[in-house]
Amino acid sequence: MASQGALNTLNKEVANYGLLFVKLHNYHWYINGPHFFTYHEKLEELYNLVAELYDDVAERLLMNDGEPFATMKEYLEHSTLKEGDRHAETEQMIKDIINDFKQIRQEMQDAMEKFEDGDEAIEDTFVSHIERLEKEIWMMSAALGKKTKL
Ligand SMILES: [Fe+2]
Repeated sequence: MASQGALNTLNKEVANYGLLFVKLHNYHWYINGPHFFTYHEKLEELYNLVAELYDDVAERLLMNDGEPFATMKEYLEHSTLKEGDRHAETEQMIKDIINDFKQIRQEMQDAMEKFEDGDEAIEDTFVSHIERLEKEIWMMSAALGKKTKL
């Protein structure tokens, strides 16, 4: 059986991905400037990725008899991320998304240090998410001309 700590982190990430899905649409719609086409398209790719990861953590929770948060109200209450600002500058939007990806990655990493026997499947889920998040962190950082700092 999975530990309560592992299940709680899974559900926190359901809330984070739920919020991030909306936030990525916000930035997909409102980003502007000379790199509009590049970022508009990239943000669409990211909300599709996040939709996949969001469903993945929720279903992993259901497989462990957990109850994933499933309303906007719950996401706002339990997410550790902030909603997007549609008036933000382009670079700020991308930095914001990089930081959100880093935060989810870090929360999974921290949680795994406290995992117990029975948490192996959740650990596999987190490891696969971390791999995908890190790849995007690297690419978005490169797009801003910055080194990847995890
Ligand atoms: Fe679109």
